[in-house]
Amino acid sequence: MNLQVFDTYKDLSRAVADMIGQVIKDKPDAMICIASGHTPIGVFEGIVNDVQSGLLNISRCTFVSLDEWLGIDPSDQGSCLSMLRRDFFDRVPLNQSQVHYFDVQVSNPEEECLRIDQLIASHGGLDVMLVGIGTNGHIGMNEPGTPFRSRSHISELAEETRVTGQKYFTKKTTLTQGITLGLAHFSEAKLPILMANGGRKKAIMEKVMRRRASERLPATIIHQIQNAQVMVDREAYNPEG
Ligand code: PGA
Repeated sequence: MNLQVFDTYKDLSRAVADMIGQVIKDKPDAMICIASGHTPIGVFEGIVNDVQSGLLNISRCTFVSLDEWLGIDPSDQGSCLSMLRRDFFDRVPLNQSQVHYFDVQVSNPEEECLRIDQLIASHGGLDVMLVGIGTNGHIGMNEPGTPFRSRSHISELAEETRVTGQKYFTKKTTLTQGITLGLAHFSEAKLPILMANGGRKKAIMEKVMRRRASERLPATIIHQIQNAQVMVDREAYNPEG
């Protein structure tokens, strides 16, 4: 695991965007998993700027969305897909074949998990997997207790996720289950990036950095991934205390 601490969210976001940009420059047909939510917004802004100014060409990349709420209409503005569209997909030139996500309207979500696993396997794995961290230490919708060897699966949302997830919605929304890439996808990605910013993440980041790898705290998986990049601003984690 490699830790990098930045003074500001802006610097952190720029560094993560550059990291992903470098992968794309080295491998133009890279497959990149991205999280929705508030953490990566600055990264998307950086990539969008690079694409618009001609510094980065993403025309051969494919993007895979990390997770989705089950039972929520994808057109709801709080769905993961809506967030990613707003923050990224709709702001760069991409065709449909470059964008992959869990379709939650299928009759059999288990099959949907297999479809996404096969898609990733057929590409030879993810080149980048960018995730945030929940205040309960989850990665994607891999809640505490999820096996490190998990691949795509349906998840029962932890109470904390049901409550904090409300921040994405305009009205009170019942969140019970999700569908998510697994922790094995993260450990097997060529470049796994865990990103955290802001004081709201300080308590959980301190816990994750202090503890040994344990499935009780999913983000501690970073301790057993040699190439995991932990990218934080000083508000989220300050190694000097
Ligand atoms: P956030 O969500 O980026 O909106 O803070 C992170 C998460 O819950 O995984």
